[in-house]
Amino acid sequence: MADKVVVVTGSNKGIGYGIVRELCKRGVGHVYLTARDVKRGKEAIDNLNKEGFTPLFHQLEVTDKNSVKAFAEYLKQKHGGLDILINNAGLITSNFTKTTYEDSVQVINVNYYSILTIQEYMFPILKDNARVINVSSDCGHISNLKNAYWIDRLTKKDLKLEDVNAFVNWFLNSVKTGTVNDEDFTETPLLAYRISKVALCALTRVQQKQVGRGISINSLHPGFVKTNMTKTAGFLTVEEASQTPVYLALDIDQSVKGKYFWFDKTEKEWTDTNLKLYCVYKVFENSLNESNHL
Ligand SMILES: NC(=O)c1ccc[n+]([C@@H]2O[C@H](COP(=O)([O-])OP(=O)(O)OC[C@H]3O[C@@H](n4cnc5c(N)ncnc54)[C@H](OP(=O)(O)O)[C@@H]3O)[C@@H](O)[C@H]2O)c1
Repeated sequence: MADKVVVVTGSNKGIGYGIVRELCKRGVGHVYLTARDVKRGKEAIDNLNKEGFTPLFHQLEVTDKNSVKAFAEYLKQKHGGLDILINNAGLITSNFTKTTYEDSVQVINVNYYSILTIQEYMFPILKDNARVINVSSDCGHISNLKNAYWIDRLTKKDLKLEDVNAFVNWFLNSVKTGTVNDEDFTETPLLAYRISKVALCALTRVQQKQVGRGISINSLHPGFVKTNMTKTAGFLTVEEASQTPVYLALDIDQSVKGKYFWFDKTEKEWTDTNLKLYCVYKVFENSLNESNHL
């Protein structure tokens, strides 16, 4: 544990911060807290230092190729590679119930396209038997979709990157041209966020098939967690929500690959639309109301 090198993206606050804290508690030797904003990142490091934890810091803006590349080069030079990568950085739509093109592009850039950039620069430095954890959502389960064509295409056995990219492009194009059909989705609030997380889960399966060298790649729903993203609505604390990502990073058997996990550490079949694991916006809204946030 003491010689492991772990990177957590978007970890200056929220679930990412909780994951860093938990990894430090578990005695992982080199835990990188990363943030797009250096000041916010260093404040987070100071707070953890006050508790006696000593994570390392590096700037990382996941949508910026140069930032990702520079960090990958740094890790290679400093540690010879990376043992565990937790893709946690994420963004939700600024308006929860209205879908705009600009908002959709922004959310999909952070939650989906950035993972392709990270794959390009970070995967080559992953050590054999490394682990990658993609933090998705209940918004990322296939049951968020009702469109039969996309359900079939995204759940097929020989799923390819071009299928996932085509799905994302189909959505963005339909928002741009005003042709979104509400019938294609189980629910329409948080729509661009749902698309980005469905794409992330599908990508996890593609990545697992391609990666080799004993590396495992899994995705998860961390639960409904009280963070900035939810305007502090939710059922779980950051500390509680950090348990499953850390379990996937450190404890689960290395043979578990390409799966989708729930916040209670159980594996759920991602391709099964009958499971109805989609995000129910009414629950979100009720929690927001209860906290007097609306
Ligand atoms: N909270 C929930 O109920 C919930 C439920 C399901 C899934 N999730 C997922 O869990 C993950 C963490 O969410 P959270 O609730 O902890 O959200 P949060 O409190 O809003 O934290 C998000 C983190 O991501 C960072 N980030 C955003 N865009 C970035 C970028 N372009 N480059 C680098 N970092 C970036 C943020 O940095 P700044 O501080 O600079 O903005 C922040 O550190 C996300 O992937 C989210 O989709 C959350």
